Amino acid sequence: MNASDTPVVGIVGGTGPQGRGLALRLGAAGVPVWLGSRDVARAEEAAATLAAELGDRAGSRAPTGVDNAAAASAPTVFLSVPYSAHAAVLRELAPVLAGRLVVDVVVPLQPPPNLGVVVPAAGGSAAEEAQALLPQSRVVGAFHNVSARLLLRLGADPECDVLVTGDDEAAKAAVIALTELIGLRGLDAGPLANSRVVEGLTAVLLGLNKRYATRHAGIRITRIGDGGRP
Ligand SMILES: NC(=O)c1ccc[n+]([C@@H]2O[C@H](COP(=O)([O-])OP(=O)(O)OC[C@H]3O[C@@H](n4cnc5c(N)ncnc54)[C@H](OP(=O)(O)O)[C@@H]3O)[C@@H](O)[C@H]2O)c1
Repeated sequence: MNASDTPVVGIVGGTGPQGRGLALRLGAAGVPVWLGSRDVARAEEAAATLAAELGDRAGSRAPTGVDNAAAASAPTVFLSVPYSAHAAVLRELAPVLAGRLVVDVVVPLQPPPNLGVVVPAAGGSAAEEAQALLPQSRVVGAFHNVSARLLLRLGADPECDVLVTGDDEAAKAAVIALTELIGLRGLDAGPLANSRVVEGLTAVLLGLNKRYATRHAGIRITRIGDGGRP
């Protein structure tokens, strides 16, 4: 895949660090992005800041600020809201999201000081809850373990893999291709039910950050592509 044949990517909740980080990386790769918010002025402001950062970078494309409903009308839609708002946002946008590829980056987390302790979602994982609320969408889980701060530093290599979960193989392959387009390795991490572990790993990483005085602990899978050699 190259950016010129990549369809528009919408980001619901695009004004937060994770949404802006994804928009920046996608924009840098030349992918058209509709950055969404509940407040279109806030979305426009975030998009303008990212556009300034992209400047005249070769091959880049500045994101457009829109409201969440417009972002949800893109062929591929990232969900990047707090878990506390996840179900309500999905219920509201379900009619617009029907038929779309939905990439859920949402992680259920406990408030500090328990950020580093895994909290299971009632429906197994946020991604499975999204699929249950969006029966007419193809939901894929991805980017749960990638630090927004690193995504937002264009020059930084996040030095991590992106574990991609989903029950629709074509949808998962499309998200892996998008991941590689922004320079990260996307790995097929199995069915959507595996999001329980992948989302849970984020709490583990946040705990590691605290215990080992870093801000950017990440996941990297070893020995992929070694052909099974001993
Ligand atoms: N930050 C990270 O490093 C990171 C890494 C991996 C995964 N994640 C996950 O990615 C998601 C987004 O992370 P974030 O740090 O960007 O989150 P955030 O800043 O807390 O929220 C993102 C955006 O969601 C919107 N929002 C907030 N409350 C809402 C509500 N009640 N209803 C609807 N929209 C609401 C806000 O946009 P508007 O006010 O403009 O509408 C906000 O800018 C979270 O689920 C997080 O767990 C984050």
